[in-house]
Amino acid sequence: MRTDTAPSPIRLRDYTPPAYLVDAVHLTFRLNQTATRVVARLSMRPNPAAEPGQDLRFDGEKLGLIRATIDGQPVQVNPDDTGLTVPAALVPDAPFTWEAEVEIDPTGNTALEGLYMSKGMYCTQCEAEGFRKITYFPDRPDVMATYTVRIEGDAPVMLSNGNPTARGDGWAEWHDPWPKPSYLFALVAGNLVSHDDSFTTRSGRKVDLKIYVRPGDEGKCAYAMDALKRSMRWDEEAYGREYDLDLFMIVAVDDFNMGAMENKGLNIFNAKYVLASPDTATDQDYERIESIIAHEYFHNWTGNRITCRDWFQLCLKEGLTVYRDQQFSGDQRSHAVKRIDDVLMLRARQFREDAGPLAHPVRPVEYVEINNFYTATVYEKGAEVIGMLRRLVGPEAYRRALDLYFERHDGQACTIEDWIAVFEDATGRNLSQFSLWYAQSGTPRVRVQETWKDGVFTLTFSQTLPPTPGQPDKEPMVIPLATALLSPEGAEVVAEQVLELTQARQSFRFEGLSARPVPSINRGFSAPVILEQDMDDARRGFLLAHDTDPFNRWEAGREFARAVLVRMLKDPAHAPEETLLEGLHAVLADETLDPEFRALALRLPTAEEVFDAARRDGQTPDPAMIRQALLRLETALARRIPDLRARLDALAVPGPYSPDAASAGKRALRGRLLALLTRLEPDAATARELFASADNMTETMQALSLLVATGQGAQALARFHERWASEGLVLDKWYAVQASLTPPENAPELVAELAGRADFEWKNPNRFRSLIGAFAANMAGFHRADGAGYRLFADWLIRLDPVNPQTTARVAGAFETWRQFDAGRQALILTQLQRISDTKGLSKDTTEIVGRILE
Ligand code: PHE
Ligand code: ZN
Repeated sequence: MRTDTAPSPIRLRDYTPPAYLVDAVHLTFRLNQTATRVVARLSMRPNPAAEPGQDLRFDGEKLGLIRATIDGQPVQVNPDDTGLTVPAALVPDAPFTWEAEVEIDPTGNTALEGLYMSKGMYCTQCEAEGFRKITYFPDRPDVMATYTVRIEGDAPVMLSNGNPTARGDGWAEWHDPWPKPSYLFALVAGNLVSHDDSFTTRSGRKVDLKIYVRPGDEGKCAYAMDALKRSMRWDEEAYGREYDLDLFMIVAVDDFNMGAMENKGLNIFNAKYVLASPDTATDQDYERIESIIAHEYFHNWTGNRITCRDWFQLCLKEGLTVYRDQQFSGDQRSHAVKRIDDVLMLRARQFREDAGPLAHPVRPVEYVEINNFYTATVYEKGAEVIGMLRRLVGPEAYRRALDLYFERHDGQACTIEDWIAVFEDATGRNLSQFSLWYAQSGTPRVRVQETWKDGVFTLTFSQTLPPTPGQPDKEPMVIPLATALLSPEGAEVVAEQVLELTQARQSFRFEGLSARPVPSINRGFSAPVILEQDMDDARRGFLLAHDTDPFNRWEAGREFARAVLVRMLKDPAHAPEETLLEGLHAVLADETLDPEFRALALRLPTAEEVFDAARRDGQTPDPAMIRQALLRLETALARRIPDLRARLDALAVPGPYSPDAASAGKRALRGRLLALLTRLEPDAATARELFASADNMTETMQALSLLVATGQGAQALARFHERWASEGLVLDKWYAVQASLTPPENAPELVAELAGRADFEWKNPNRFRSLIGAFAANMAGFHRADGAGYRLFADWLIRLDPVNPQTTARVAGAFETWRQFDAGRQALILTQLQRISDTKGLSKDTTEIVGRILE
């Protein structure tokens, strides 16, 4: 039990409008690595919409206050740990000017929030509450102001939001005309070079585009730039949204807690999501770069021009922007493949979150530390909710609603209620029941029953929503299930339509059928639910062969494989069903199918998926056994495909590497075949060959992964390290592949050894995640029965916490599934959770996460 008082939560229902507004911000930075001076002049006034006569409260953390004035007169204030208050009596009842000078220490800022140093470069991260570490400010998103910034320092490049207005020797000035919340402020200064281009908007405005990177990296920006231009065009075409400044900048930084940040006109990116060259980045990296570049760019309208009233409304910008980037990627590549990828990720991260102690609604109602709510639920489930809305109202009405949203709310800080009202007004639909998606946590379960009688086919659905923390009882939701009926020959006898579930139990009748059909339900994963359907292997095999919806076709194979693995777990002598192997082989052999789709279909379920499926079957599965079952199934599948080697050779992509979707798809399928072939080669000869001959990082990593996973990686790892020791992002891969794929027998020991290396720069979030985070995803290794994995993991969380609470808390989420394990493992994990929780001075971030996990 913790004895110190827990910080009290912030609640949605306590929202009150800001007492004072800020119209304009003037900032002067005198940069210094350990003692930067920040002068902030704020044009303020009492908020006419707030109760008059309130104290003037500023947020502020780790600021050395030098002086403060109101209308030029010094004011006596006493800062505390979280800010300072000017008593109402000292505050004018009319517009006034607040000025404060503070001193901050960018070098000491290892939490990477506020102004900090990354490899000699100054940079900022202000979302969600970092601006208060730069100056005193009402640091909340409903306070929007224009910003004028002067930077003084000796860096060759000094950037802030908006447009450059003037510069001289040792200084630069910037002005951002668009009012914005403080979380969108950014400053960057350092020795940077830029990769330049331009884009002409459809109304003819020329926009300069600049991607700033450290010298030496300028050759790795072309793909990000191309993705940016495609994003700009796409947002004009799909949403009618044009860019609104003359300059758009992206900066790549090495030390960053998250993926990237949408600061107005000056996006700051984790370098991992900008820099790419064929020999350093994989196809997956390219794809992620494309989607994150798009995501941050799309925020310019969904997030920046229209922002959030408070942080409870985070999904207003994030769910919508994720949905938009998913649409974009689907349009650029394959919709079917994109949907499968997105659902894989949704299930792995969001369903898992929804099923455990960290479950919370898409719009949470309370938090202790807002950084802990940048979650799969807010982002990914938030995007699913938008997708359902679009499906329910149709694409035209969706577009009309979005037009109305931009027209009605441009320049405002909004709520989910505003968003829903726009859809109600644009479509005439009542969305009060639909809004439950924002309020109720947990993943709905939908059970389907079929009857067939006198030519009438009936589907009866019952929905339940399990209890989640703080929510014992739930109401039925609106669940749109895209459904078609297939004839025994596989023809669509009833074309796809959306069945709209609104009640706890509900039936749909289909008449005039000549034979009993096979339903294909929740096509395209139209609703983020767990569908419980009685399926036998014949039905699974049929859908895998014939479903006309590519998502459900893939789903059938995946579900089939899960079912088989559950049987294999129960009975180690159980041989995988021939019908599954034949079905997968048939998909592989079907040359009319997209290679990337075939690669996905041939991928076996993850260990976590098998774990969940076995639990639903009433087992308490052992991760070591799951690993064995997966290996056996993979081997059986490999044996079932006679011409593995020939197929692999036939898929070689000729010519120089290109990251386009078609080439990437071929490489993905080739990689799957290589993995299967390796199951049949005790010495992994083909993987070795490929490792030696590969001329791109995608194939290099495919080969290296297999060598590591089969315990034969030593030589290849040494060569890889030698070649890439000076490329941080590639070195991250070297750590990650070992942490995530090393067999359990020596995984914790190996990770401990790697953590002791000089080049394990653990204060860098990418590096920490590559070793410690990736290890937690190595299910059999992390959950080894002796608890060595848990101990090591906890040691590192305790070590990182005082340095970087945000990343610590995020990685600690790996323990969220602990109650699903056997008693022995639960006890071992509990010991470590307790040890973390008992750590003196543990951050608010980690305290909240560990506390909720323990509850
Ligand atoms: N707003 C960023 C995004 O989703 C994520 C982020 C949050 C980055 C907090 C940094 C800090 O695009
Ligand atoms: Zn975002």
